[in-house]
Order: sequence, then C-alpha cells, then structure tokens
Amino acid sequence: MITIGSYQLDSNIIMAPMSGCTDLPFRLIAREEGASLCFFEMIDCNSLTHNSERTIKSMLQTNAQDRPIAAQLVGADPGAMVEGAKMLLGQISVPFIDINAACPVNKVVKKKAGAYLMQKPSILSKIIKKLSEAIKLPVTVKLRIGFEKYDKEALIKLVKKCEAAGAAAIFIHGRTAAQLYQSAVNYGAIKVVKQSVGIPVFGSGNVMSAELAKKMIDLTGCDGIMVARGGLGNPFIYKEIEHFFKTGKLLPDVGFETRKAVLKRHLKYINEYSRIRNKVGLMRKVAIWYLKKFHGAAHWRDQVNRTDKYEDMIRLVEAVG
Ligand SMILES: Cc1cc2nc3c(=O)[nH]c(=O)nc-3n(C[C@H](O)[C@H](O)[C@H](O)COP(=O)(O)O)c2cc1C
Repeated sequence: MITIGSYQLDSNIIMAPMSGCTDLPFRLIAREEGASLCFFEMIDCNSLTHNSERTIKSMLQTNAQDRPIAAQLVGADPGAMVEGAKMLLGQISVPFIDINAACPVNKVVKKKAGAYLMQKPSILSKIIKKLSEAIKLPVTVKLRIGFEKYDKEALIKLVKKCEAAGAAAIFIHGRTAAQLYQSAVNYGAIKVVKQSVGIPVFGSGNVMSAELAKKMIDLTGCDGIMVARGGLGNPFIYKEIEHFFKTGKLLPDVGFETRKAVLKRHLKYINEYSRIRNKVGLMRKVAIWYLKKFHGAAHWRDQVNRTDKYEDMIRLVEAVG
C-alpha cells in the first residue's frame, strides 16, 4: 500500500485534479462508482488569502461522503502559498496539499505559477520547503516532463530537488507544458522520474481505460496512476482498473441502462449541489461526456444543447435509446 508522508492510501488509483470538472457532483458520482481519493479543483492561493466568497463556497464545497479529499494550490510566491494553505486548512481538513507546477494555461503561466515553476527549480523547492514546514501535512507536487521540451538531465535534477525540499510524492504528467494534452505520453520520462526519487511517483496521461492504466504501470514502474479525462462521463473506470489490476481480466461494459441511470444521478447532483451561475451549461457539458458512448451521439448532443431546464434534460436522457 502506498503512503504519502504518514497518510496511507486505500488504492494506488486516484482521481486527478481537473479545473472545471472535479466539482462536488463529479466527485460524489466517481466515489459511488469506485473512486477513493479525489481532489478539489485547483485553488488559487491568492483567492484564498483574499477570502473570496466564491472560492470558499464553491471551490471548497464538500460533504461527509466526499472523503478522502486532497487539495491542490496554484501560486507563485512561497509566502502567499503558505498563507493560502493556512486559510484552506482553517476551512477543511485534507490528507495532503499538492502544489500545481504543471498547469500550462497562459493566464496561470503569465502569473509565474503552474508549469512556469518548472523553469524555476529554486522557487519551486522554496515553496515545497516553506509549505511543509508551515502546515505539518505532507506536501506533494504535480509536474510535467518539461516546459518547452523534455530534457532528461534537467528533469532528474528538478525531481531530486523537489524530494530534497520535502515533497512527499510526485504526480507526473507525461507531456511537456508546450504539448498541452494531445501528444503521445512519454512513458520513458515518467520511468526516469520514478528511478530518480525514493518518494511515491504517480503517472498521469492517457489513462483512458484499464489497459492503458496497466500500460502506465508496466512501462514506467510508477507506484500509482491518476485518472483524468478517462473519468469524464465514465466514472466506471475506477472499478474497471481495480478489477483488471487484481484479476488481469476486463470487466464487461456496464451497459447502456447503467450509463443512463448514472448520468441522470449526476444531473440530479448538479441540480441539488452546484453553486455555479450557469448550472444548465454544466449539465449540458456533463451530459455530452456521457452521451459520447451512446449510439447517435451527435444527434443527442444537438438535443442537449437545445435544452435549458433540468427537468427537460432528465426527460431527454430518458428518451435516449
Ligand atoms: C479540463 C482539464 C482540467 C485540468 N485541470 C488540472 C488542474 O487543475 N490541475 C492539474 O494538476 N492538472 C489538471 N489537468 C491535467 C490532468 O490532471 C491530467 O494530468 C492530464 O489531463 C493528463 O491525463 P489524461 O491524458 O489521462 O487526461 C487538467 C486536465 C483537463 C483535461
């Protein structure tokens, strides 16, 4: 079993943080279908220190079923990250805090945060060190394999520096920041990370099925994996991976009726829990994820985009067949 600091994980298959996706309804559904450790969406440390209502109420929304839950902070300044983490821990208890040094989005990189930090190992290690000293909880770091390009020696240096600064685990996305999300995953680079440090390493990238999850472990030797886009509209993936790891056999598809029922439940949770302004927009996005697996997906997507009430959305899903 893997431990992050002194925190023992129930499984080495965990949910990756995804902005705009891993909200409370998403996490509840994933947990009901087999996920254990989940993440809040990435949280900007400055919005915590400025005590933004939206951040506290919406980004940190949770309930008793939503456990265990880790938090990921994004920021550029070690002091602000410590203050943000303290604010967060005043609201909620988490098993560890992750530092986002992987986000390639311009808005984030321009603020010298996210993947930008990969280019500034001394700032990143200062953040890790200060945070670990200040919060008495394990601090982890999420990285990519490079910023513009993959440089093996630079990556080895970086991960060793993170470990020396006190990182309790590394989450590594096997693409560079410049590659965003589409390119092939560099399993060799993830293997290099695993071989360079003694702390647990979790691989991320193209974990779209049980077989691809196994490929990640087999080709990299990493300790665990993160499920990201493979879980969008497909919360069944957690059980599928667990089963495949245990037995070497693939579970049969959950089937059309189960997918419909879970989609309806997901929409219900959005209706009940979500605090965002455009709930129907979120319902449409979520419905389209699930409907991709259905026959006539393009037709149903079109119908979903014309629907602007929760009740109509449910009626529409019932009519899918
Ligand atoms: C919509 C979206 C939002 C994401 N948001 C975050 C984030 O906030 N923090 C983070 O560390 N990674 C984020 N990621 C990256 C994922 O955690 C993951 O590393 C990446 O998608 C690669 O895995 P995949 O190819 O299996 O999707 C995001 C990815 C997507 C698609």
